[in-house]
Amino acid sequence: MEKLKGRDLLSLANLNSDELKELLQLACQLKSGKKNLKCNKVLGLLFSKASTRTRVSFSVAMYQLGGQVIDLNPTVTQVSRGEPLIDTARVLDRYLDIFAIRTFEQKDLETFAHYAKNPVINALTDREHPCQILADLLTVQECFGRLDGITLSYFGDGNNVANSLLLGCAMVGMNVRIATPANYLPNMEIVEQAKTIANGNSEVIITEDPQVAVQDAQVLYTDVWASMGQEQEANSRIPIFQPYQVNEKLLESAADNVIVLHCLPAHRDEEITNAVIEGDKSQVWKQAENRMHAQKALLVSLLGND
Ligand code: CP
Ligand code: NVA
Repeated sequence: MEKLKGRDLLSLANLNSDELKELLQLACQLKSGKKNLKCNKVLGLLFSKASTRTRVSFSVAMYQLGGQVIDLNPTVTQVSRGEPLIDTARVLDRYLDIFAIRTFEQKDLETFAHYAKNPVINALTDREHPCQILADLLTVQECFGRLDGITLSYFGDGNNVANSLLLGCAMVGMNVRIATPANYLPNMEIVEQAKTIANGNSEVIITEDPQVAVQDAQVLYTDVWASMGQEQEANSRIPIFQPYQVNEKLLESAADNVIVLHCLPAHRDEEITNAVIEGDKSQVWKQAENRMHAQKALLVSLLGND
């Protein structure tokens, strides 16, 4: 997709609705083999947090496009010895064609992108996880044949995944409901952004009541109760989040054709029961596979086809 060439994806809001839908369409074509694109470029992975899916799906996507990957993390570069981010960005920008960065502060990602001319992708920050939501939307589209009017309900922590779901769902005309405890709301600036995008044409609901969120929902979604960087709070959060667990009882109030998603890694019998993640409504493995197809579409769109 020529119009995305050279751009950054720091937030889903960097795309407009049409661009997001076109990206999903391209991912679908790449997955089915209808399109076979090439891109002989080099991707740098700069990850300050652990990752299985994002690291490997980006790497394999790049290899399948004919490109190469350098897996960097702070411990193997001078970053761990205090080299400023703004220096690192300007130097690596002269070697690498595109960056996928996983870090804590959105501000650091933005600073890097400001100093690097080449495209920078948010591979997860504390604020957002846009690449995850590309795969999630692709999965919903495959399962229901459409996105418009589908209701997705998220249960648990108002974290990076919840924030990006708010934006992504609003952009494709899906109804989005976020059920969180009072002190764990999603980012309110993003909630307002999502409401503006939805413009009254689809629901954007934030509630403390999981029963309100679940009624007739077609997609139930959850994520860990303590994200990376919040490990010290993991135990104290369990009783607070218990009412938001995605379990078989909750599924009873959802639509008959409901599917269950989880970005993974999952903590079985915390945010999701083993029975549900292993049950016939679960689409988590398709969802994880779609990370690769969606990111391949993203890479080739930001870099251009050879
Ligand atoms: N869902 C996700 O981003 O997984 P990883 O942390 O393993 O990359
Ligand atoms: N919210 C989780 C997502 C992991 C893919 C985290 O940030 O750790």
